[in-house]
Amino acid sequence: MKIAVTGAAGFIGSNLIHNFLNTTNWSILGIDSLGSGSNLDSLLGIDLSRFSLVKHDLANANGLRELLEGCDAVIHLAAESHNDNSLRDPAPFLNSNIIGTYNLLEAVRELKIRLHHVSTDEVFGDLPLKSLGKFSELSSYAPSSPYSATKAASDHLVRAWIRSYDIAATISNCSNNYGPRQSVEKFIPRQITHIISGLMPKLYGSGENIRDWIHVDDHIEAIKLILIKGELGETYLIGTEGEMSNKAVLEMLLDIAGLPSNHLEFVVDRKGHDLRYAIDSSKIKRELGWSPRSRNFKQELELLFEWYESNTKWWLTDKERIEFSYRTAII
Ligand code: DAU
Repeated sequence: MKIAVTGAAGFIGSNLIHNFLNTTNWSILGIDSLGSGSNLDSLLGIDLSRFSLVKHDLANANGLRELLEGCDAVIHLAAESHNDNSLRDPAPFLNSNIIGTYNLLEAVRELKIRLHHVSTDEVFGDLPLKSLGKFSELSSYAPSSPYSATKAASDHLVRAWIRSYDIAATISNCSNNYGPRQSVEKFIPRQITHIISGLMPKLYGSGENIRDWIHVDDHIEAIKLILIKGELGETYLIGTEGEMSNKAVLEMLLDIAGLPSNHLEFVVDRKGHDLRYAIDSSKIKRELGWSPRSRNFKQELELLFEWYESNTKWWLTDKERIEFSYRTAII
């Protein structure tokens, strides 16, 4: 089988390519715009006999069909994905997440290629902090940010193309991923690399907001299973009951670094900040037999800390650029 992976040099894309080349005999065509969210170094060390990479921005339809010809399936991961960036400048999110998905849908429709569209739990908005409720496949769409609104739009496009044009597609919505090769604009890598750099970690608002953390490898195994066994036209929610407040996560990181729990700075809250995410993943467990590996979150954070300590070259230049935009942003 030959699969195309969009967003190949991003966080989830690069981890997925390392995993798939190690665990399957598939060949992979990586497609990436090589924009600011991509890092070519994330693909270092992979087996080039079964992998090739093409620079292409999905917002440009020209040449996309030719590129995908001969592929059996596409995993669509390419997206602008950081909420803070979308608040500063929504335009790239509309181009990448909506127009990019539309162009891809038209290409797979014409070529009759199987598509798996990777999306986020943020399309459902947020849950009250103190409730026990969870998102499921039946939750209504209610996105809060420009980012999540564009991901919701991309999901709707995929659903419409399934219904109207009968394309062979599946969708998954996952909770917050953590793992190696994640951009230092995101919460956990930002705090780890702040600590390594001797900077004060930054908590938005009260730090009470809750995220449902999943290791990127568990997410990737779920995507693999959906590709192999998923029922066409279906949506699957992916999460591992990893709810934790931002403050609690940061306190774990501070403890790992041997710093006191008050070694942090509370900063102005994100506009429209979603309170809580939580996923009910019983459908994918029941129907596809998916189960995440049993993990100790604190031990995983220790490993991650070591990864960022040993890979400063991977993130240092990006960090300067990203922190510059955090400092200069008016939102
Ligand atoms: O739920 C899945 C989503 O998770 C993905 O679709 C998004 O692409 C991904 O970015 C993530 O969205 P979040 O907005 O939850 O992730 P982020 O890492 O930006 O922030 C996580 C939480 O930490 C959020 O409540 C905001 C807070 N935060 C973030 C940063 C960067 C801080 O308190 N301080 C920070 O410096």
